[in-house]
Amino acid sequence: MCGIFGYIGEKEALPYILEGLKKLEYRGYDSSGVAVLKNGKVTCVKKEGKIKNLEKALEKKDLSGKIGIGHTRWATHGRPSDENSHPHADCKGEIFVVHNGIIENYLMLRRALAEKGHKFHSTTDTEVLAHLIEEHLKGNLEEAVRGALREVEGSYAIAVICSKYPDQIVAARKASPLVIGIEENGTFISSDIPALLKYTSKVIYLKDEEIATVKRKKGHICTLSGKPVKRKPVFISWDPESAEKGGYSHFMLKEIHEQPKAIRDTLKGRIRPDKAEIHFDEMKFSADDFKKINRVVFTACGTSWHAGLVGEYLFEQIAKVMTEVEYAAEFRYRDPVMDDKTLVIAISQSGETADTLAAIEEAKEKGAKVLSICNVVGSSIARESDAVVYTYAGPEIGVASTKAFTTQLTVIYLLALLMGQVKGTISKADIKQRISELLELPQKMESLLEREKDVEEIASRYYECSNALYLGRGKGFPIALEGALKLKEVSYIHAEGYPAAEMKHGPIALIDKNMPVVVLALQGRRYEKILGNIEEVKARGGIVIAVANEGDDDIWEKADEVIFIPRTSEIISTLLAIVPLQLFAYYIAVKRGCHIDQPRNLAKSVTVE
Ligand code: AGP
Repeated sequence: MCGIFGYIGEKEALPYILEGLKKLEYRGYDSSGVAVLKNGKVTCVKKEGKIKNLEKALEKKDLSGKIGIGHTRWATHGRPSDENSHPHADCKGEIFVVHNGIIENYLMLRRALAEKGHKFHSTTDTEVLAHLIEEHLKGNLEEAVRGALREVEGSYAIAVICSKYPDQIVAARKASPLVIGIEENGTFISSDIPALLKYTSKVIYLKDEEIATVKRKKGHICTLSGKPVKRKPVFISWDPESAEKGGYSHFMLKEIHEQPKAIRDTLKGRIRPDKAEIHFDEMKFSADDFKKINRVVFTACGTSWHAGLVGEYLFEQIAKVMTEVEYAAEFRYRDPVMDDKTLVIAISQSGETADTLAAIEEAKEKGAKVLSICNVVGSSIARESDAVVYTYAGPEIGVASTKAFTTQLTVIYLLALLMGQVKGTISKADIKQRISELLELPQKMESLLEREKDVEEIASRYYECSNALYLGRGKGFPIALEGALKLKEVSYIHAEGYPAAEMKHGPIALIDKNMPVVVLALQGRRYEKILGNIEEVKARGGIVIAVANEGDDDIWEKADEVIFIPRTSEIISTLLAIVPLQLFAYYIAVKRGCHIDQPRNLAKSVTVE
């Protein structure tokens, strides 16, 4: 996600800002920029690409000054480019803003501002903020920022400077972190702790809908309505490395816990509960385009391929359209038969996987329409597709994919509902019901994550096993595959995912007391069959670890271990069920002393065949 850094004090701002942005690089970004104020003028330099591109551009400019802001951008609205980089300015080039978050109503605000004559130079949601503050500026910068933010819907962490107010930086946050660092020579503003630790461990956390006006030696905080807030500084004891992980031991664990927020961000602005409608701002396909589709082919690799398998169930059940799933590496060479009524949906977290990119090219050559689901805005797969919808999981640093998977499933579910809505294969009432369940998913996942220690305890009993089997039925089968992949990737234990019904056709020969069998025993029309499979395993001396819905009292008599997830609909149970399996794999890998964030032989993005 984006990184913000600002400084105001007795020393030159630029060195602090560049150093701070480098400390925020781990968050992932595609462009960067700075703006420094001196003698009543703000000079701004911003460049696509890595910070070294910005530093090269700075060689030709004089950015001396003791107040400034900087930004590393992780694109959400508007592809990576110089003009879409932050900071963004108002019409007069006096106000400069950096932003982390999503302004959901930016299109409506942009139209209203353009009607008043404002000229825009980027396609970002953030630039709207600079012009909105310009509209509200009547002699007080803080009041102008408060007035602008009261019109905004969505999430933001912002820092604002204005050439007319050379003694202050105004900062604000809502659902996106922002921290103020206090040091004897000045005051810092940062998206998170790692960028501050080199200078100070004395920090003030801003809370949601609070505005800070930061000056050289003092400052104050107030609410969006202007009510003063008293907030004592705290002292941070983290070392820089653990600070990058937000206090978690590994990025993988941090990202498992980020899933509720990632799903909320992915749902934002796409669900109209009052109208029970699904909507993607960035969707290039019209309703008629979707109506013409009579076949869907998901194509992807690894975890993303597992997401496609869940998609197959959802698209056939909801949109009543023939659906299949192909490994990208197989699809690209098998000379597939398709036409313009076929929709190929490519799924990729990185947007750079070579096989998936090649599969898209093959699909386009065969005349299919291509829609991609990516987590990286402007990535190669996004650019090569006819249309793209994004997961807003933020950068996924751990090689083992976690939050990308659950946000992919969220987008796939929305797309199935959208196609069903367009084709009329699902009632408004059913859409409304499913939307309300989907909106509850993040909170249910948070309550599930609170039981993390139960999973850790179970993992401590099985970390020495050499093999494992994961069984599921229906949508539980792809989850079994994904759970097995997580265990393989991070703990190097051999694990296989299988349709539970297939056990009798071979894998049952493997059952013994040394191989735990993880079973997705989720409520639904296949539940009784799953219980039968558990009994088959137990009858042969096997060990069963069941993932079951709360309130299931029968499961205790059948399984050796039970991990409960909230009782909810079948599809929401599917999205929840992967979380304990992610934690199970993580804690087994911790016990085995594995290198969890960068497992041996693996790359985060396989950009070669
Ligand atoms: C998943 O944990 C792995 N890192 C891997 O299977 C990954 O899902 C696969 O390489 C596809 O990557 P993509 O989603 O970036 O295309």
